[in-house]
Amino acid sequence: MTQKPITSTKCKICNEELIRFLDLGQMPIANALIKKEDLNKKEFFYRLDIGYCHSCYMVQMFTTIPYEMYLRPDENKKRNYVFFSSTSEVMKQHFKDWADEISKDYLKENSLVIDIGSNDGILLQNFDKINFKVLGIEPANNVADVAIQKGIPTIIDYMTENLAKKILQEKGKARAIASANVILNIADLNELMRCIDILLEEEGIFTFEDPYLPVILENNTYDQFYDEHVYYFTAHSIKNLVKKYNMELFDAKFQEVHGGSMRFYVKRKSNSSINISDNVNNILKKERDIGIDSGKAYNDFNDRVQKNKNELISLLKKLKSEGKRIVGYGAASKGVIVTNFCNITQELVEYISDNTPAKQGLYYPGVHIPIVPPDNFHKDNPDYALVFAWNHIKEIMAKEQEFIKNGGKFIIPFLNVQVLP
Ligand code: TMP
Ligand code: ZN
Repeated sequence: MTQKPITSTKCKICNEELIRFLDLGQMPIANALIKKEDLNKKEFFYRLDIGYCHSCYMVQMFTTIPYEMYLRPDENKKRNYVFFSSTSEVMKQHFKDWADEISKDYLKENSLVIDIGSNDGILLQNFDKINFKVLGIEPANNVADVAIQKGIPTIIDYMTENLAKKILQEKGKARAIASANVILNIADLNELMRCIDILLEEEGIFTFEDPYLPVILENNTYDQFYDEHVYYFTAHSIKNLVKKYNMELFDAKFQEVHGGSMRFYVKRKSNSSINISDNVNNILKKERDIGIDSGKAYNDFNDRVQKNKNELISLLKKLKSEGKRIVGYGAASKGVIVTNFCNITQELVEYISDNTPAKQGLYYPGVHIPIVPPDNFHKDNPDYALVFAWNHIKEIMAKEQEFIKNGGKFIIPFLNVQVLP
């Protein structure tokens, strides 16, 4: 596999020319926090620009970053992923509900369920092991090992056509194939669809959920675009993608997780035992209303993003000129996008407070802002905290009452730049 990013102006699904609508400029890898001793070394940057296809409506990055650049093998050649799914109670319940729904509505006795990108087994652990068989596919060793310890059969590899054929021979076809927050990372979605075609039973379903593009557009949250995410889905683009493989979208359900996701349900066209839900047409209509199929949705977004950037920089500079001190709160990967796009360095934001020990002492890539433990922030009492982990703002405000009581204020970069309280 290549170690170099690949840039193309063509749609990765249908080979039509892409139309660029967002350019966030030169970006480092969002999760590649830097050690102090490496600050002077040359960093990797790529151009983070996004386009849509006028033919199949797939929204995608022009430059794709190969897995090796963010799923880096360590000295033992093991790949490690930074995100363990099962650390959040909300996510655990979310995946349990999904597994219950799949079991009840789509499985038969002895059915095989495959999860692509099964992480630590957060979905598969919920299936009844007596009635059903499960199989996880997960390329990152550290998270896959946790699933295997839980007794969930897991193949530590990427999903490829060769692997799909091997699974078919050894395990047979799957009644349900699921995937959460993974297929948006797979640059060759055509190969993925061939894998689904190889593995899916005649009456099987393919269900997956990923961040939903219209929510990103609506909320202005351009910080959701980053190196790991090659695609940003709509019902329009998924409908067109699966059509190429004689499959069809038969349901779509909005989920609150990850700031707003869509769970899609796909079946073979030849399978008439499942009806197409009204949700599909309703969602397609809503997408047409905002201009997903005309380009309007994307162009409006670009204007708002540029405006948002100017607003944020002006506010930070104005506060600085008044002698105020500003720090960051929550060294989320999203903040790497905001700081690099807006050129926010230590001159404007002195440091970022974060409660994750593994991040403390490291620096944001590109802009080199240091990450410090919350204790430093609490002792320091700066005037403003720019919240990069804005999705946790309720929890943050609730726990930082002392900061607020001392006159501290939070700056939230989205929807428009806001100062709270
Ligand atoms: P996330 O948005 O990807 O979940 O990242 C949130 C980051 O913010 C993570 O590094 C932990 C950090 N954080 C804090 O430092 N304090 C907090 O109260 C919360 C909620 C998150
Ligand atoms: Zn296309």
